[in-house]
This record gives sequence, structure tokens and C-alpha cells, in this order.
Amino acid sequence: MQIPKAAQAVLAKVPRGLASRLERLASKLPIVGDLLRAEQRKIGESLKAQVRAHRPTELQSDELPAAGVEPGSLLEVLRRWASAEAPAWRDGKMSGGVYHGGEAHLRLLEQVYGLYSQANPLHADVWPSVARFESDVVRFTARLLHGNPSHPDDAQAVCGTLSSGGTESIMLALKTYRDFGRAERGIRHGEVVVPSSAHPAFDKGAHTLGVKLVRVPVGSDGRADVARMEAALSRDTLVCVGSAPSFPHGLVDPIEALSAMAHARGVPFHTDACLGGFILAFAQDAGFPAPRFDFELPGVTSVSIDTHKFGYAAKGTSVVLYRGKHLRRHQYFTTPDWSGGLYATPGFAGSRPGALIAQAWTTMMTLGREGYVRNTKAVLETAAVLKAGIARIEGLRVVGDPLWVVAFTSDRVDVFRVLDELAKRGWSLNGLQHPPAVHLCVTLRHAEPGVAERFLADLAEAVRAVKDVPVGEGGMAPIYGLAASLPFKGVVSDVLAAYVDALYDA
Ligand SMILES: Cc1ncc(COP(=O)(O)O)c(C=O)c1O
Repeated sequence: MQIPKAAQAVLAKVPRGLASRLERLASKLPIVGDLLRAEQRKIGESLKAQVRAHRPTELQSDELPAAGVEPGSLLEVLRRWASAEAPAWRDGKMSGGVYHGGEAHLRLLEQVYGLYSQANPLHADVWPSVARFESDVVRFTARLLHGNPSHPDDAQAVCGTLSSGGTESIMLALKTYRDFGRAERGIRHGEVVVPSSAHPAFDKGAHTLGVKLVRVPVGSDGRADVARMEAALSRDTLVCVGSAPSFPHGLVDPIEALSAMAHARGVPFHTDACLGGFILAFAQDAGFPAPRFDFELPGVTSVSIDTHKFGYAAKGTSVVLYRGKHLRRHQYFTTPDWSGGLYATPGFAGSRPGALIAQAWTTMMTLGREGYVRNTKAVLETAAVLKAGIARIEGLRVVGDPLWVVAFTSDRVDVFRVLDELAKRGWSLNGLQHPPAVHLCVTLRHAEPGVAERFLADLAEAVRAVKDVPVGEGGMAPIYGLAASLPFKGVVSDVLAAYVDALYDA
């Protein structure tokens, strides 16, 4: 959807709020609306075509098969599909995504899944072992983060629950603070104050829960600015947030200063350690300095931390922790008068996959502290090699001083074209905006022999390939260019939604 350059220059100066009102108004004018809809249809069709081109086609049908497919032949097909997809993650070609992926670990998790595939902690009477796994994982994690689950004062005891992932842990924490704010702090509407680099899960949570999200610009070092964050607090603030680290540039916000500031103002403070908690907790033992971010700091009242990232469990679990059992109570949902009986759940879900909880427990039990320290060392050492290697490539600059999520940018080449060139060489990295940059979240997959060297060689080649090449068609470069230049973010949102449509409708 192209908007002429001259119009863009004018529109770029229009304040954001006014821009989105204008956009809504424009789309209501019949002719503009028709043009927009026609363009959206075209974009939707082209996205569907792209999605279709990458889909496996065997066994395709719109309907449930009349007679079931013979399991042996189905498994044969699944093996083929999975092994075609495996090299991308197994050979360390992606940023983040797969955090362990070691052969023996995966075989172990498979066996655990087999034992617990039917288990559901909603029926704790039938699967008491699963209920124990969950409480163990929560307590192990609380202790790792300097919390004391057995504190004699319930208001200081660190407790929590498991969720399905980082986004759900964050949404649960926001629900807890919304209900705590209403019940105990006299807050009617409620605001959540986050640095601009905080994960979109906070937008999603605030939107879903009907509270306002206040995004505060980060400082010139890419980290939360304590003074600006403080200025954004109000009597309506439900919780103040910092990331350890943030997803985009892998930078740890000044959690110590932020949480002390929030504490002094009587505001709860949440550390989003979804990405970093299981690295930062072991970094010192692995020989690397690590900032303080957890319950060691008196102002930190909750933490989200993902077992399914550097906790090395299978996808589908995360931990949300609170300082004080009174807080966790606000996360629960209870229904005493339903015709279906008495009903209580700790979080948003009803039934939950017991097998994933069993896998998370197995992972922690088999790795032990030593295993996590060993893995953290491997990740941080590999990241140091990559950071130094990237800084040596002419034209590239590492953003800030990250630990293991290494973002790079450039004043000389279009980094989104570098991203496209890397994609041609099989690498799946993340594009970042404001300013344009690319990041690689280093995992154990990159610590395998030869991976870091291969990445640096491909990156140097990608930079050489895009030097002096004008921006062309296709790939991510024009899409990010468009997103950055449009004041009408609704247009970009429509394209993103059309992509999600395509995943279902292709
Ligand atoms: C800092 C941070 N918070 C939250 C999340 C959300 O986690 P999930 O994708 O498991 O929902 C992520 C994901 O990368 C993250 O990096």
C-alpha cells in the first residue's frame, strides 16, 4: 500500500493521535474506503500466496478424513515434514526460538510426554504428581531468584504459579495488580507504566484487561529512564515495570534504581525476566557480572521468568512469582455457585497440559544448578565471540553493551537488507525498529562447534552484498521501510492482521 513521498513528509509531522483519527475518517469516505479495501484484498491475496508456497501439501483436505489415516503412514509423513524443518533450528540458524535442542535432552522430554500426555492439573486428585511438579518448579524458581517461599510472614513469602508462556505470565501479573489495585489501593481504572522497550505482552494484557498502558521513552543508552518513569507514575498506577533484559536490544533496565523508586512511591514493581531470568540467575557462577533484578531487591514485588526459554523446558510453560501470598490470591478465579460444581483455577486457563509441567520439572531436576551454570557459560561465551565478531565487520555497530541478545545497526548499509541477505543464507533473525536494527538471541544452538564462525562469515558476506545496492522489491526491507514511514499505524496493523489471516486461510 504506497503513499506518495510528498504526502508522507506532510503526514509524518501530524501528531500520532490526530493521524489515527484522520485515518479512521479517511477510511469512512466511500472512495478512500474502497481504495483501502481493494489494496487490503490484494495484500491479503499476496500474503496467502506466500504462506501457501511454504506449506507442505500432502494429506491436504478441508474436511476431517472419513476414515482415519493409518497411523504408520501418517507418522512417516510427519517424520518427513519435521526433518525438513529441523535444520533451521537444530543447526543454530535462528535467533532465540529453540534454547536447548540437544539430542539427549529431547529424547528424555519425549519419554516424559509419553508418561503424562493425558495429565491435567485441573484434576489434582487424579494427578497429584503433576500438582507436585508445578509447586516444585515454582519453589525452585523462587529460591533461584532470592525469594523465600517459606518466609514466616505470608506478605514476604515468594510464591507463584505456572502459566503457558511469557505473555500469559505478564497478563496474569497485570490482572493481579488490577484486582489488587481495585480491592486494596482504591484504584478504579488503573495504569501500567512500562519502558518503551517492554514486550508487547504488556500492550496485550492492558488491552485485554481494560487498563491503560503508559509507554515511557527509554534513555539514550536504550534502557529505562528512571526519572522519566517516575514522572509517569500517578495515583492510578497499578504497577511499574522493567525488563531483565528487554527483547529488542537485550539490555537490562536499571532494575535496582527503578524498583527502589517505585517502592518509595508505594507502587508495586514487576521485573519481566521472561527472556533473561534463567541466564542472569547463573551468570555470576558462570564467571560473568550480572546486574541485580530479582527479589533480592526489596522493591521487586513480582517477576515473570520463562521455563520454556533459558529454563530449557519444552514450549508451553513459564513462571509468575509474587512477593506475598495476598498478591497471588488476586490472580486466582473462583466460582462458588456454578451448576457444574465448585470451580477454582490459578490463572486464565481451565485445563492445562500436565505433560508440559512434568517436562519442566524433569528439565530442572536433571540439569540441576551445575547444568544451568554450564549452559549459561556456553551461551555467554558464544555471545562474547559473536559480539566482538560483529563489531569487527566494517559498517556494523553493536547496540549498547548486551550480554547475549546481540543487536546491531548500521549508518552505512540498510540493515533490513542485511536481514534479507542472511535469510537467503538460511538465517532467521529478528528485525527491530526505532532505530532500524537486527538482533540475534544467542542460545545453546549457537554454542555448537562452528556455528558462530559460520554466522560471522555469512554476516560479513551479507553486508558486502548489500553495499551500494539500491532498495529493491520483496523481503522485509520494504515492509520495515513502510512501517517506519507511515504515521497511520492502523494501515500497518491491517497488514499484520492480514498475515495472521493468511496463516489460517491459505
Ligand atoms: C522480555 C520478554 N518478555 C516477554 C516475552 C513473551 O514471551 P512468550 O513469547 O513466551 O509469550 C518475551 C519473548 O520473547 C520476551 O523476550
